[in-house]
Amino acid sequence: MRTQVAIVGAGPAGLLLAHLLRLRGIESVVLERQSRDHIERRIRAGVLEQGTVDLLDEVGLADRLHRERLVHSGLELLFDGTGHRIPLTDLTGRELTIYAQHELVKDLVAAHLAAGGPLLFEAPASAIDPATATVRFQHDGRTRELTADLVAGCDGFHGVGRTAVPADAVTAYDHEYPFSWLGILAEAPPSSDELIYSCHDRGFALHSMRTPRITRLYLQVAPDERLDDWPDERIWTELRARLARDDGFELADGPILDKGITALRSHVVEPMRYDKLFLAGDSAHIVPATGAKGLNLAVADVCVLASAIDEWYRTGRSDGLDGYSDTCLRRVWRVQHFSWWMTTMLHLLPDGDPFARRVQLAQLRYLVSSTAAATSFAENYVGLPLPKGA
Ligand code: FAD
Ligand code: PHB
Repeated sequence: MRTQVAIVGAGPAGLLLAHLLRLRGIESVVLERQSRDHIERRIRAGVLEQGTVDLLDEVGLADRLHRERLVHSGLELLFDGTGHRIPLTDLTGRELTIYAQHELVKDLVAAHLAAGGPLLFEAPASAIDPATATVRFQHDGRTRELTADLVAGCDGFHGVGRTAVPADAVTAYDHEYPFSWLGILAEAPPSSDELIYSCHDRGFALHSMRTPRITRLYLQVAPDERLDDWPDERIWTELRARLARDDGFELADGPILDKGITALRSHVVEPMRYDKLFLAGDSAHIVPATGAKGLNLAVADVCVLASAIDEWYRTGRSDGLDGYSDTCLRRVWRVQHFSWWMTTMLHLLPDGDPFARRVQLAQLRYLVSSTAAATSFAENYVGLPLPKGA
């Protein structure tokens, strides 16, 4: 098989890249390890920055999103039993969209297949050769090869993209946090109109949502925590304790539809390009979920990559491709800092250092009482503008 751009992974990064290239008349083939059903049900992110939504609008992918999304103009920070609203839109002029990642993936898959694909499901890549832009993969019980001009490794944190780069050609930066998130999706109406980030003595909790009938909730847990130790009633009791406040707030509960534990980690590989292989999204970087940034960062990467590839085909100039890694990494490190900072401010540190706790509370009090501090937080949370010309 031959194509112009081989794309490994049909997550948001790979699917959106294929769409952006198609609009510029550039062919691609997308290879996805999982089935269509699997990727269209996988529960992941839910918060889209305005820049992400504006881009989806521009490229004709946001019709259903506009019909079904929830729009938020603020969020709440809860500590010491009191909620403090940060008016994100008043402070920045930008809004947030709540729309489940798997719904976006459905929209992207539908657009891709309607335009003729090609998108192969259950086609795991086993090796990528960055020198020849060749991808070896399995499909229908056979080993096959896809050769291209360039390869985009959009195959997430556990993919083969990163491992195709020789170890001495990259530096990996890693930071592990001493806690994980236990996340549930519940058939219960949201108990608040906006997200609530709670910094509590029992640990962090987050109240989020997907639709007017579905709530998404998270609890900070120990890194080695097992789901079996968290029967539904224990989860609700803990959520009620950590989201409790002075003003009579009541957490609505209901059947739990999905339950999972996710480790929090920060990870960056530098550079994000090796020869003809370009890494994008989670294959190049992971941020802790506290800032709701991973999906948005994946979108920013493929914006830069699609423009650079287009320039290369149209003019033969490789400035964009050569600058791809540096351009993306500037945003990646800004977002890394923000996500690390927000994580550190809101989670209970397991060593229980009372000094660190007081510093966290001092930071939170400053954030909710200073317009300058709240504006800086809001500017990062709603997202920096996407790169121009995407
Ligand atoms: P992925 O979505 O991981 O896609 C990679 C794809 O590659 C997958 O479909 C995978 O099956 C496929 N693949 C892997 N290996 C191979 C192979 N060898 N061959 C072929 N295909 C392969 N981000 C936000 O912005 N906002 C949030 O609110 C948010 N909340 C989150 C909550 C949770 C619980 C989690 C886990 C993540 C959250 N994120 C959030 C992060 C976000 O989900 C990821 O950053 C996003 O999925 C990255 O997209 P991607 O396309 O780079 O990678
Ligand atoms: C989510 O709704 O899944 C979500 C919201 C905010 C975050 C992380 C995840 O910071």
